[in-house]
Amino acid sequence: MFRAKRTLAAVMALQFAAMASFAIAQDTKESVNRETSKPVFRGGIVFKAYCGLCHGERGDGMGRAAKLYAELHLTITPHPPEYYEKIIRQGGLAVGGSAYMPPWQAELSDEQIGDVIAYLTVVGDTVRRGEVVYKTNCVLCHGIHGDGKGRAASLFHPPPVDLTRSDKDDEYKAAIIRLGGVEMGRSSGMPPWEERLSDVEIHDLLNLEGQRRGTKL
Ligand code: HEC
Ligand code: HEC
Repeated sequence: MFRAKRTLAAVMALQFAAMASFAIAQDTKESVNRETSKPVFRGGIVFKAYCGLCHGERGDGMGRAAKLYAELHLTITPHPPEYYEKIIRQGGLAVGGSAYMPPWQAELSDEQIGDVIAYLTVVGDTVRRGEVVYKTNCVLCHGIHGDGKGRAASLFHPPPVDLTRSDKDDEYKAAIIRLGGVEMGRSSGMPPWEERLSDVEIHDLLNLEGQRRGTKL
């Protein structure tokens, strides 16, 4: 009898400890790696470095070089992965198209080609692009889910904001993302991103946040 009581108390204590640790659970190294090593996220980096110049950040052909190729078909449209792979590896000529689409097989590894093909399936979708930008740049502090529980979060006082509960509007958020915390009278823990992220990428981040707020709570 006495024994049973003690066991129950021990079980309850354990449950309480489990709940408490759940409430403050931070991202783990494994969960971050699992998220950020997905092909689509790595592919976003390849696309930005090699493809956006002609195809545009949204894959709509409105890249910086688009004017030079005005009469060409630069929009990324849905195709089977085999078609993407062929034109990316061997260039436009291999599919009876334009020589201005270069062959990439000497430049990119097989893994990079696979990754960028995965990214082509999301390049036209602002929220999914926003997720790629977020996972590539913000996870360490704000956490995989935007809840402020990133792996480095405990290093910052004040802590990285739980973005799912932010009360700031898009204009404010765009400003603090661009300029960083200090310029906005906040802490230096929030870095400035204007050198690293384009206007399109910041816009995509805001659309992701908007969707998160809509689906959460
Ligand atoms: C120098 C400009 C340029 C760069 C850089 C470039 N492309 Fe292209 N790409 C083109 C042109 C031009 C076409 C149109 C070819 C045609 O159909 O005649 C094209 C077509 C494509 C298509 C077919 C689009 C469709 O829906 O029919 C895909 C897919 C593609 N490119 C992927 C990529 C990827 C991935 C990269 C980066 C690794 C890349 N391109 C880099 C110029 C470029
Ligand atoms: C090195 C850590 C770090 C990284 C990386 C980081 N942030 Fe922050 N962020 C912070 C901290 C800390 C604050 C809180 C600053 C304060 O309260 O003074 C903050 C605040 C913010 C805010 C203000 C929200 C509010 O409600 O006030 C936004 C929006 C934001 N971050 C977005 C981002 C986005 C988007 C990225 C990725 C592009 C990012 N942050 C990357 C640390 C970081």
